[in-house]
This record gives sequence, C-alpha cells and structure tokens, in this order.
Amino acid sequence: MCGIFGFKGKGNIREIIKNGLKALEYRGYDSCGFFLNNDKFSFYDKKVGKGKIDELVLSIPLKIDEEVIVISHTRWATHGRISEENAHPHFDCKKEIAIVHNGTIENYQFLKKGLEKIGHKFISQTDTEVIPHLIEENFKKDKNIFFAVISALKKIEGSFAFLITKRGEDILIGAKKNLPLVIGFDGHNYYFSSDPIPITKYTNKVIFLQDDEIFYLGSKIKFYNFKKNIQIIKKFDELDMKEYEITKGSFDSYMIKEIYEQPEAIKRTLKYFLDETFERLLKQSIPERIVITGCGTSWHSGLIGEYMIEKLIVIPVEVEYASELRYKSPVVDRNTILIAISQSGETADTIGAMKKLKGKCRIFSICNVEKSSVVRESDFILLTKAGPEIGVASTKSFTSQILILYLFSLTYLFKKGRISKEKFNSKCNEILKLVEKMDFLLKNNNVEKIAEKLIYKTNALYLGRGINFPIALEGALKLKEISYIHAEGYPAAEMKHGPIALIDENMPVIFICVKDKLLKKIIINMEEVKTRKGFIISICDFISEEIKKLSDEIILIPHIENEYLKPFLTVIPLQLLAYYVANKKGIDVDKPRNLAKSVTVE
Ligand code: M6R
Repeated sequence: MCGIFGFKGKGNIREIIKNGLKALEYRGYDSCGFFLNNDKFSFYDKKVGKGKIDELVLSIPLKIDEEVIVISHTRWATHGRISEENAHPHFDCKKEIAIVHNGTIENYQFLKKGLEKIGHKFISQTDTEVIPHLIEENFKKDKNIFFAVISALKKIEGSFAFLITKRGEDILIGAKKNLPLVIGFDGHNYYFSSDPIPITKYTNKVIFLQDDEIFYLGSKIKFYNFKKNIQIIKKFDELDMKEYEITKGSFDSYMIKEIYEQPEAIKRTLKYFLDETFERLLKQSIPERIVITGCGTSWHSGLIGEYMIEKLIVIPVEVEYASELRYKSPVVDRNTILIAISQSGETADTIGAMKKLKGKCRIFSICNVEKSSVVRESDFILLTKAGPEIGVASTKSFTSQILILYLFSLTYLFKKGRISKEKFNSKCNEILKLVEKMDFLLKNNNVEKIAEKLIYKTNALYLGRGINFPIALEGALKLKEISYIHAEGYPAAEMKHGPIALIDENMPVIFICVKDKLLKKIIINMEEVKTRKGFIISICDFISEEIKKLSDEIILIPHIENEYLKPFLTVIPLQLLAYYVANKKGIDVDKPRNLAKSVTVE
C-alpha cells in the first residue's frame, strides 16, 4: 500500500516521475505528490484523487538541465482522510526535510505528543509526519542529517520504506523495514522504487534493500545496517527484464488481459515447476501436518489446496487467515510445513504469520514475485510464473497458485510411491489439455450477456460444494471488490442454515454445478432456491433437462474428468462475470475504490 518512487540524476524528469508513479499506482491511488530538489530550486506539488498523476507532473518544467533529486508518492490512505494535507510528501516545521513513506508508524501518537509539547506543529493527521519532525529535532543535536535519520529510526516502531531529502542539499536517504525498497542505477542516474517494475524501463541493475538497511546518496551511494550501526557493501544484481514487461496490449484493462493470460500462465508455471522445482521438492521430507496461510484470493487457493492435499496425499491440512494466524498460538513442529501463499509477496499479514512461525516449522511459500519479502522469509520456494499482475483483482495468480498446490500434491504422491513417474507425467499432460479447454472457454462463452442481468442488483449469492466451494468464495470476492455489489459465497448446503432467508426474486444465486459426486446434492440445493423464486445462474459442464428447468441462465464450460482440474474452469466465468458487471457499471476495474493491489499494512 502506497508506492514510493525516487530519482537522482538528469533527464526528462516529468516523464520519469510520471512513468514511475503510474507503474506504482496499483499500490494506492488516493492522492499523489512529489518534492523536487537541487541546490538552485526546490518545490513540491500534491494532487488528491484517482488518476491525477498526469496533472501532478505538469508542475515539473519540461526542460531541466541540472541534476535533480525527486521523491514522489502515490497514497493508499491509512492514517488521515484522503486530502491534500495528508498527501505525501510530508515535511518538518521549516519545510526543509521532505519525506515520502510507505508503511505505518505504530507509536506515532506517542511521538507526536512529545514533539508537539516541544513546539512542533503538525499539518496532517498522518503517522508519517512524525518522521521529518523527529529528524528535525535530532538534527539540532546531531548537526548531521544522516545521523539525525538514524536517531529517528531508533525511536520509530512499525513498518516502513521511505525516501528523504533536504531542501537545497545534494542528499537522498532511504531506509526499509518490512516493506520493499529497490534501487536501480543506469550508470548515470539512480532510481528508487517500491518495486522493480518502474526501474526496468531504464536499467536492469538493481539492489533490493533488506530490512534494517539504510542508504545515503551524496556524491556516492553508501549502505549501512542501522540496527547494528555498521557500514555494509551491496552489489547491483541483474534482473531478468522479460519478467517485468508490462503493457495492456490490445485490452482495455489489465484485469481482462490477465484473465485471458491464464492459459499461458498455467503453461509457464507448469514448465517452471517441472524444470526448477520438482527435483528439489522431492528432496523435502513429507510432513505430518500442513498449515496453509494467506489473505483474500490467496486464502481461497489455500482452501482448494486443503481439498487436494487431504484427498491426494492424506496429510491433515488447516487453512488459516494470515491475519488470524499471526496472533494465534499454533501448535507446530519440524514435522509441520507452513505454506504461505501470496501473489505479491509483500502482504503484511502473510509476512507476519510467517515470522510468527519462523524456526518452529518448515516454511514453504507459493509466490509470484521472486525477490519479494515472502520469498525471503521462506525455507522452500514454489514460484508461480503468472507474470506481473497489475489489476487489483487477482485472477491469473489464483489459477497459478492452485496449479502449484496440485503439482505439490502430485509430487508427494509420487514420492510416497503411490503413483509412478509415468502416471505423474500423464497427469502433467492432462494439464496441457486443461489449458486448451481454458483457452476455448475464454473464446466461447455467454458471460457478457448474462452480466447485464446483474448490473442493477445489490446482492448476489454464490454457492458451490466440495472443491468448488472455495470457487464460490472467490467468485463472490471478485464481484464485490470490483462491481461494489454485495456478494457472499457459501457451501451450497449451508445456505439453508441462514442465507436462505435472503432469497426472493431479486436475489441472483450463482450455482457451480458440475458433473461430480455431489451433483445430485447440488441439484437439491438449486430446487430449494427455485422454490423461493431465486434467480439462478448455473455454471455447468453439461446440460440436463433438470438443470434447464431450474436455471434462469446457464454458462456452459468445457467438461474435464479430473475433479482437481475443474476449479481452473469454473473460476473463469466468475472472473469474467465480475469484470463485465463492473465494466458495464463504468467502474475502473484495475483500480476499484478503497483497494490497493498489495496490502502492506495490517
Ligand atoms: O498479494 P497477495 O496474494 O498476498 O494478496 C492477498 C490479497 O490481498 C489479494 O488476494 C486480494 O484479496 C485481491 N484483491 C483479491 O482479488
């Protein structure tokens, strides 16, 4: 949440800042701002509201010949409403020290009170503003901005990645704890960012700052560990640029492009697993118990993983919300594996849960971002190769995660001697068949037409059973987050224990009704809804007279025999349904209100 982008050097500053902030807008888009600094002139600007970056950068002159330092920010509001005074950058009393910050300062109220008592004047309601005031205060004693920042770091509690500069001086300082900060260098100019994406436009040479590290950029860049008070040497790594190519192509949003990229994402993830992960995973001993954790969509994949792992490899699995797990007292030991699932690898609660269990059990992660915090916290990494996911709604990362969970189960099944290598290979070939079916479904479906029926609805119920119950949860999450229609997912049979009271002719009920051993049961649940005049949309992999009679609308998907592969197909119409409804309502699907792609605060 919140994106920070910085630059030191010469060039088309307006374009550099615009591109940098736009690439980070997925982290928050409540307001944006920058501070531009050099020894001749310094100024800042802020804009409130979504989509204001183009307007913001107009205050940067088209031509600046001198070298400049710029720090900039795109905000997802935590402390303080969405307003100009709360937009970053924030300053000290004299407006000399400027900061852009991602994270939360947990003891800011205590610090603020102390600073106010000795005369500091605060303009915003943010937690961030205590940092420049603390530095200002320390500077009176330390007389050195770098030492003043280090002293401030010793006092603040919480998570942060920030960039600081001082008016009229050739100084740029950045530090991080728990949140990402990447530095790029193209031989002349330095770039600083919350993720590598905006930097890859200029260079593939990057440094990922680690927790408790700080850099000081004057005439040269120097690195220190601020906790240990020691200088450290860091070298620039070379990034694989292909991983970071981001365009909408011919699509009008990232979300719809990412939905359509799923067949490719599945193929890439499968190949990478077979080439890079399979042999290493075979060397990992089979645990007695598995705990899966994650948030949102990643938590839903965990539920599907529970179903796969328990049925295929017969190991007990618990799936916990990361935000709950981190404050529980889980009973784990070295025979337990924690599998943390995260697309971004920067979700604060997921990292918190991993840290809680670190050293107590083995920690595996399923993650889409190779250099992320989740990956760094893991003992064993299972990478998804979905490619960068920019749309706030997770789509291709979800199907890639459940593929990894399926491959994980198959690998241990093979390790246990319960299937031969030939059988393992034939299961992998089945995945290639699945990819063809996903592709066919994306090209041949009636979802857009059916979406018309939901635009004016205020509620929707998603029902599924077995492995398709988490798909119902996922469908409901997609609809609510991008179309603002209240939606709930339920196990279909659980409906009669309460939610059935909501059903009338105004309630759309989306049933996932596929040919499996629970089919007869789900048909009974459909009858129960029909009797109460609910409007039924069925996602089916076959059509019978009974289904026709009960359904107001049917979305036909390709049939696949393997029950573990059905969710890859049932989820696609639900992603599309949410997309088309939101699109028809005129909502920006990539940046729905109140949300951010990467939730880096608790
Ligand atoms: O990056 P992560 O997978 O850790 O993110 C977890 C959730 O924040 C994320 O899945 C969220 O629920 C999405 N907006 C769902 O579409």
